[in-house]
Amino acid sequence: MEVIIQRDYEQMSKTAAQIVAEVLNTKPNAVLGMATGSTPLGLYQELVRLHKEAQLDFSRVTTFNLDEYVGLPVNHPQSYHYFMHEHFFQHVNIPRHNINIPSGTTSNYPAFCQWYEERIAECGGIDLQILGIGSDGHIAFNEPGSSLSSRTRLKTLSKQTIDDNARFFEHREGVPVYAITMGVGTILDARKLVLVASGKAKAKAIAQAVEGPVTSMVTASAIQLHRDAIVIADKEAAADLTMRDYYEFIYAAKPAAPKS
Ligand code: GLP
Repeated sequence: MEVIIQRDYEQMSKTAAQIVAEVLNTKPNAVLGMATGSTPLGLYQELVRLHKEAQLDFSRVTTFNLDEYVGLPVNHPQSYHYFMHEHFFQHVNIPRHNINIPSGTTSNYPAFCQWYEERIAECGGIDLQILGIGSDGHIAFNEPGSSLSSRTRLKTLSKQTIDDNARFFEHREGVPVYAITMGVGTILDARKLVLVASGKAKAKAIAQAVEGPVTSMVTASAIQLHRDAIVIADKEAAADLTMRDYYEFIYAAKPAAPKS
């Protein structure tokens, strides 16, 4: 695993965007795995800037989002459909039919989940999966206790996640209790993982994910099993890493490291 520590949120976002851009430059028809949450917002803004100012082309890109709340219609301001269109898709040139987001309103979840897995496979698998991390160490909505080989499925949200996400809703009671999420196994199948983390609220989760034991109690720790996983954290999110100096030394010595 590569750990890149950046001085602030902006640098974290730019470094992550640079890695996405490199994948697209090498493979213009790449399949991207998209994440929601507040952390990847800066990364999306930077990709939009690269699209507008540096002709970064998304016309052959296919995307698969990690997850969606169950029960929210696509036009609900807190649905991940809405989030992605608002912050990213409407600003770049990804063909609409190449955008895949789990349905939070299907009448048959098991069939939909199976279809989603098959669709990813049909598209050749995910080349690069963007990830955030929950304060309980989850990736996507794979809450503590999720099998590390899980696939796309319905998941009940933990109390911690409902509390964390309540800030986006008018009332805590409005936060959905269920979500549809790619599994940890689905995520590990992606050819490259880029996990972004910012702020001190993520410091413990990042330390557990990067340096703790691989455990289903911290599903982000599963990325230790991946052969090409990059964690990009700002200084606050990296604060509890015991090997911080070593990661910074490696990154500084890297000849072609993306720095801005
Ligand atoms: C939700 C999403 C995750 C995301 C997490 C953290 O639980 N399902 O994919 O990583 O929120 O969000 P934030 O970046 O807002 O802290």
